[in-house]
Formats: sequence, structure tokens, C-alpha cells
Amino acid sequence: MKVDNGSILFLEGMALPLDLSRLSGGLPKANLEIGFGNGEFTVRQALAHPDTLSMGMEVSPACITRCARRASSSGNPPNLKILCADARFMMKECFADASLDRVVMNFPCPWPKTRHARRRVTTKEFADALAAVLKIGGVFELVTDEEWYALDAQEKLTRHQALDLLACETNPSRPVATKYERKWLEMGKNIIRLTVAKTESFTVSRQTWGFWEEKEKRGERTMHAKTRKPLPEDGLAFLFGASGAGPEDARWVFKKHYAAVNSPNSPNSPETPETHKNFLVETVSADGDFEQRYYLKVSARGGDTLVKLDEMSRVFLTPAVRFSVEDLARRLGDRD
Ligand SMILES: C[S@@+](CC[C@H](N)C(=O)[O-])C[C@H]1O[C@@H](n2cnc3c(N)ncnc32)[C@H](O)[C@@H]1O
Repeated sequence: MKVDNGSILFLEGMALPLDLSRLSGGLPKANLEIGFGNGEFTVRQALAHPDTLSMGMEVSPACITRCARRASSSGNPPNLKILCADARFMMKECFADASLDRVVMNFPCPWPKTRHARRRVTTKEFADALAAVLKIGGVFELVTDEEWYALDAQEKLTRHQALDLLACETNPSRPVATKYERKWLEMGKNIIRLTVAKTESFTVSRQTWGFWEEKEKRGERTMHAKTRKPLPEDGLAFLFGASGAGPEDARWVFKKHYAAVNSPNSPNSPETPETHKNFLVETVSADGDFEQRYYLKVSARGGDTLVKLDEMSRVFLTPAVRFSVEDLARRLGDRD
């Protein structure tokens, strides 16, 4: 079946927060499902509530494709949007304060081992993000088959000043069962639904907002840094494993690099008639627990060296990404 990508939003490079009114054509309500798996719940909700923007956020590209296929075979409801992102970091970045009516998380991976606990979505930071993006009176629903996980999430969420427990129910009746729900029910397990509501205004700081607007004002679309030294003749092997850390819990490390030779007629180097080298440096950065992998392009510009984010890298422009560009240029400039 042909997948229509019309409902998938590729967030990297989009101005954030998302303009939900524009995205939905002015629909008054907006719901979000986190970790939709095969997309059954998200698509059924979109079809059942045409007056509501129904969004699903997922980290797995395979799940994104499955959901897009399902949307296609259901006539691509115009009120459905699929977001490819890690909710632990991106929920607060994607949505403005008080913009969502309902957030649902069906059967998240509970990560029972203590050493994996940081992979759970329901952290203190998530409670802050939820308290910011929900409208006052808006609700968050968590459905799980693990009682200890429901209690852990309840404790984390209700400790928040702007969130109150509405209900904690065992085996509630639900309009749509998900794949995992059917599986656990067939195994005779109990299903627990936790519902919390937002009671007062709250906000959190965002790390990616405003970046594109600033760039567009200056007529720039990529971030770059320049150093007044020529490109090292012996390559960039000295960078392998170099790492740095900055404010806002930002960390980065430079990995392998790849060399490419631009031909004299290359459209990438119109101002340099002679053949010259470019390098791509694989970089991994983290803002807190939010990790990204991308390439930084290093190229000669006259006698200088230019470092910029490779245009093909799909990356959110977080503080760690910006610091890695500046750090790479600094290391090239400091080299004898
Ligand atoms: C156990 S499955 C449940 C799928 C579906 N909700 C269901 O009930 O059948 C958990 C889903 O959450 C997704 N997921 C895990 N961590 C996530 C995160 N940080 N942000 C978004 N999705 C996440 C996984 O890729 C997976 O599809």
C-alpha cells in the first residue's frame, strides 16, 4: 500500500512551538497520544472526533510508518498529525503553554530495572512539561498493566503543584483497546488507568524556541562558525573522541570523520575555482537525556575554515548542537 506522508510532520527545522490553530485549520481542541505503537488508537480517535486535532508522538520510525499506512487506509483524516519525536524532550518544545486539551499514554514501556529508570517517560521533567502544555482543566491519562508503575507515575505527577489526581481505576471501560491492551487482557492482567488534571498555570523554559525566527531575520538557514586558520592538511583524525560540556546540561563528542573532494564545478564551491576538500564529522550530542547524532561539515573558505551543520542532518537546534559547532571551530583554530 502506498503511504501518504501528508499527515507526518517532520519537526526538525520547523518553527516551534507548533501553530496548532494553523495546523488544524482552526479546530478548537487538540489532543496528543504519546507512544502510539501501531497507531490504532490515534487513528480511531481522529476519526471519532473530527472537531479535534489528534496528534500522535512516537520515537520509532517503524511505528510512524505503520500509523501513516493505517491513516492512509482510513482516508487520511485531515485532523490527524503524526510527530516523529522523543516525548521526553520534545513535548515541551513542540507545544506552547496551555495548548492541549488531553494527553494520553497507552501502555508505555515501564522499564522496571532501576538502572533503566531514566528511560521512563514519566519523570519530574515530564510532569513539568505536562503542567505547562495542558490547558487548565485539561487531562493526562496513563494506562498501564503494571500497578507499581501506575503508583510510581501517580507519585511523580501529583507531587506537582499544578497537577491533581482525578482518578485511579482498575479495568475501566475504554472506547478503543490498543494492541498491548488486548495482549494483557488475554493474559488475564488488570489494566490501570490514572487520570490527572491541570489546575493552575505553569510554564517551563524551552531550549529550541525562537532559533529559526532569529536565523530567518538574519537571512540565514544554517548555523555556522568560522576560524581564521586553513583546513588542516593532515586531516581531522586529531578530533576523534574529543568531547565537551557546556551550560544547560549540554554534552557532545566528535566521532569518525569522512573526506570528500569537491570538483571545481561543484555548485557547493562556486567561489573557489580550485578543487578543495570537505570533511563531515560525525557528532553525538546530548541535552540532558536527549541525544542526537548528526554531521558537521568542515570546509575551506579562502584561507579560513568554515564549520556548519550539514544540511542533510535532521536535527533539533538545541544548545548542545550549537555548542558543538562552536567547539569544533575553536579546536580547528587552536591547532598549530
Ligand atoms: C509498549 S509500546 C505501546 C504501544 C501502544 N501505545 C499500545 O498500547 O499498543 C510503547 C510505545 O512507546 C514508544 N515510546 C517509547 N518511548 C517513547 C518516547 N520517549 N517518546 C515517544 N514514544 C515513545 C515506543 O516506540 C512504543 O511504540
